[in-house]
Amino acid sequence: MSLPQAPLDVMRCPHTQARLRWEEGQLAAETGRTYRVVDGIPWLVDEETVSRLDRAFQRQYTERDARSYDRLVRLLSLLLGCWEPRERRKMVGLLDLRPGMRVLEVSVGTGANLPYLARRVGAKGELFGLDLSAGMLGVARTRAAAVGCPVHLVRGDAVHLPFADGVFDGVLHFGGVNLFGDRARALAEMVRVAKPGATLVVGDEGMSEARRAGWLGRRLVKMNSLYLFRPPLHLLPWGEIENVQLHWAWREVFWLLRFRRAGGAGPPDEGEVLRERLEKRSAEAGP
Ligand SMILES: C[S@@+](CC[C@H](N)C(=O)[O-])C[C@H]1O[C@@H](n2cnc3c(N)ncnc32)[C@H](O)[C@@H]1O
Repeated sequence: MSLPQAPLDVMRCPHTQARLRWEEGQLAAETGRTYRVVDGIPWLVDEETVSRLDRAFQRQYTERDARSYDRLVRLLSLLLGCWEPRERRKMVGLLDLRPGMRVLEVSVGTGANLPYLARRVGAKGELFGLDLSAGMLGVARTRAAAVGCPVHLVRGDAVHLPFADGVFDGVLHFGGVNLFGDRARALAEMVRVAKPGATLVVGDEGMSEARRAGWLGRRLVKMNSLYLFRPPLHLLPWGEIENVQLHWAWREVFWLLRFRRAGGAGPPDEGEVLRERLEKRSAEAGP
């Protein structure tokens, strides 16, 4: 299964933002750095710059884990009383996508969101999926081949996105940011690569206040302490974004932040009041 040729107008050296060109089967930056392409997937990451935390996080995503990941998520969703496809469809629905758009999923994992994204952007759209785990990307490439629009997979680090500024009509991230080595920088990177006015949806584990207070919430926290995370409002690049909204998914055990990159022609900012209230509460509450 071959992936479409990596579009060089969109991709950049993750460290210098220099343009890339093909050179003997590799991608070379004008600065002299070269990046391998493995099984059609550009590896746009300098291993030595990946933080210790991100490396430790990666140990959960070996090739074997990648093969069982989808089954595990489906099972955990059912245990929570959720139908996973419905939750994913709802989450992707928050992105305001239209046919022909170009969308990035940061931490694409096994590509579980790709079919829902592809349905929204149609055959003329274009999807990019970035992940640090080669094992997860291996599973994603099978899905990518079946979704009906071009999908470009890239191995990279969310903290140093290998893309030019302002090139995506939508950016999705789900399931990794709580444990990223530099959460603020990863969030700023997602905003940097979005076009002015583009919608971003970012989410991870973390229960609503109502869920925390209940019997089931307390039991869930004993099983998985990640549910204690709160939406990282204090880490958002507030000067660059607008219309911030907080949503909940998977029966309120995952938070979702939806916002727009500022500077587009959308309706006026309704998020300012919410920002002050939520940012204060999030800073007081800790991680
Ligand atoms: C829980 S999975 C979520 C996968 C997918 N987004 C989903 O909805 O099923 C977390 C993913 O984050 C990826 N990841 C972890 N650290 C990363 C980093 N620094 N940069 C990019 N991806 C990373 C992992 O490899 C893994 O595929």
